[in-house]
This record gives sequence, C-alpha cells and structure tokens, in this order.
Amino acid sequence: MKDPKDKRPSADERRDFLKRLLAGIIGTVLGLFPAAAGLKFFFDPLRRKSIVGAPVRVTSIEALPADGVPRKFPVIADREDAWNKFANVPIGAVYLRRTPEGKLEALNVVCPHAGCPVDFKPEQGKFLCPCHNSLFNVDGKIADTASPAARPLDSLTVELRNEKEIWVKFQNYEAGKAKKIPVA
Ligand code: FES
Repeated sequence: MKDPKDKRPSADERRDFLKRLLAGIIGTVLGLFPAAAGLKFFFDPLRRKSIVGAPVRVTSIEALPADGVPRKFPVIADREDAWNKFANVPIGAVYLRRTPEGKLEALNVVCPHAGCPVDFKPEQGKFLCPCHNSLFNVDGKIADTASPAARPLDSLTVELRNEKEIWVKFQNYEAGKAKKIPVA
C-alpha cells in the first residue's frame, strides 16, 4: 500500500507510463514508413511518370510504301527526365513495313545484342548490325546462327488510326538478354 504523502509514482503508474511511451514510439515509427515511401517517390526521378511506352504517332500511311521494304522513322514525343519535361524530342527510332498482305510491322532499330542501331541492307533484304555483325531477317528474326544477338529485333505494337495515322507503342528493352525486358 502506497503512503498518501509519498508523491513519487507507484510501480503501477511507472509501468503504465512506460507502456504509453512505448506505444507512442511504435505508432510514430509505423507512421513514418508511408511518409518515407511518399518522399522517395517524389524525389526519385526514375519513378516519375514517363511517356515512354505510350502510343506515339510516327508517320502517315502515305509515307510508307506498300513494297514490303522497311523504312526508318524517328519517334518524336514528349519526354520527362529527372527534373524536366521536354516537348517533341526524339526518343528513339523504328523500322516500319507494310507486308505484301497489307499488315503493318514495327521494329525497334536498336540491336538487342549491345544496343547499336541496325541498318537495313536492301540488296540482302536483311538488317545488319554494324557493331558485331548480327544479321536479322526483314521480319526481325535472327538470320544467321553465328549472330551474337540472343533474341530477334524487338517488335513493337503498331496500329493504324483514322485510316492513315501510324501509331507505335514505343519501348526500349534491355540489351544482351534472351527475353524482352522493358527498360523503365
Ligand atoms: S550490338 Fe549488334 S551485334 Fe553487337
């Protein structure tokens, strides 16, 4: 029994105080996690929204002859980097082709071996990479088993809008991998 004149906290009161203190500390720490995640998102430029991967109008159907020969086009779009937004800048390039059946095909110009841009060689009807001689068929498939590229050229989603606009969902993929792994 505690002496009424004794002003010092009892053992029970001290225990209650410590419990409340501990609960307060845990609550504060748990509350910090969402706040920290939010700040990381805000300050990490790599996590900010990018338009890469969104459909981009590349050209019109009139600019793409129906002879089955691929033509190279720049992809111009708005781009966001770490802290800035740039309007209408080149974000890559594609080879577009109208197949004899009238189908549209789009290939990223970047060689999947190590990232050099490939050239289309009309005399061979193939794409050749000038860096290490990977050779690809007109549809992007590997044409020579000696090619160091581990996968075909990267095909991209392409569509015709309003009967004449060619739109491409532009995307880069990691070089040197057998699978297509999108670059964020
Ligand atoms: S970068 Fe194309 S073959 Fe190496």
